[in-house]
Amino acid sequence: MFTSNPFYILTESIAPIFMQVFVILMISLIVVGTVMDMIHKKNVKYFFENAKKAKKNATKVLSTGERIKVLSKTIVSDIATTSELGAGKRRMAHVMGMYGTILFWVSTVVMVFIYTNPSSTTPNIWPILWHAGALLTVIGGCWFWFFLRVDVYSEAQPWYRIIKADLFVLALIATSLFGLIWSYLQNMDLGARWDDKVFLVFYIVANLILFGGVYWSKFAHMFYKPGAAIQKNLAEADGSRDNLPPEAEGPEQFGLGIKREEPKHY
Ligand code: HEM
Repeated sequence: MFTSNPFYILTESIAPIFMQVFVILMISLIVVGTVMDMIHKKNVKYFFENAKKAKKNATKVLSTGERIKVLSKTIVSDIATTSELGAGKRRMAHVMGMYGTILFWVSTVVMVFIYTNPSSTTPNIWPILWHAGALLTVIGGCWFWFFLRVDVYSEAQPWYRIIKADLFVLALIATSLFGLIWSYLQNMDLGARWDDKVFLVFYIVANLILFGGVYWSKFAHMFYKPGAAIQKNLAEADGSRDNLPPEAEGPEQFGLGIKREEPKHY
């Protein structure tokens, strides 16, 4: 199962062009959903106005070298390893889900566009990356959703309470999980049985919800967060501090109460 391209096997019943059109449609849905979200929230407009205002408070003009240094640090720390989430489980779960999803999506595009024509042979690495990416996403996503999300972890809500904010993480888990089950059943070669077809339909529907729901879900954070991290680090380096007051000079004394439990009340 791990070394077979599920999309190649699917070409026995569906022409590659349909799969390719579906992928293009999903990418278009991301663009449309994100643009609608930006127009609705006006967050990008606010972001640029705020950056312009902050620039006036800069105490230092950054050289190109300094800008590159800040940018590289942001890419390695804030973006590639989501340092905003601290050093604990939350960051681990996010990194698993993030890289799992990236592997899953990239290998899907490669296999659907390059390795679905009848004369092609898929190198083993692509199906392995696809299955491993899906597994990582399911593990990281479930860890986050069952144990770490704020309403369960900090507000003592039961894990089965589902709200609109869960749309992104649940749709993400569903696409990977249904994709894995579909691939497994298809590999078992069950002939005329319906099992794999049912999970293929679930996989398609989960994708439609994930990509069709960009406007309503947290999907677009994967574009906003890197931009915000770059701006924050540049504002720290040029002394503008995002229009915030200067740091206090006194020692950080919060009393003994701070040690009683780890901070988790958001
Ligand atoms: C393919 C890329 C990414 C995927 C699949 C992904 C996935 C997720 C998921 C599933 C959540 C949980 C959403 C929820 O609250 O229900 C989340 C939250 C979050 N993500 Fe991402 N993410 C990606 C990229 C990024 C990037 C690039 C950053 C930062 C630069 C980032 C920072 C965050 C933060 C700060 C949270 C809030 C976590 C919390 O509430 O504990 N993400 N992400």
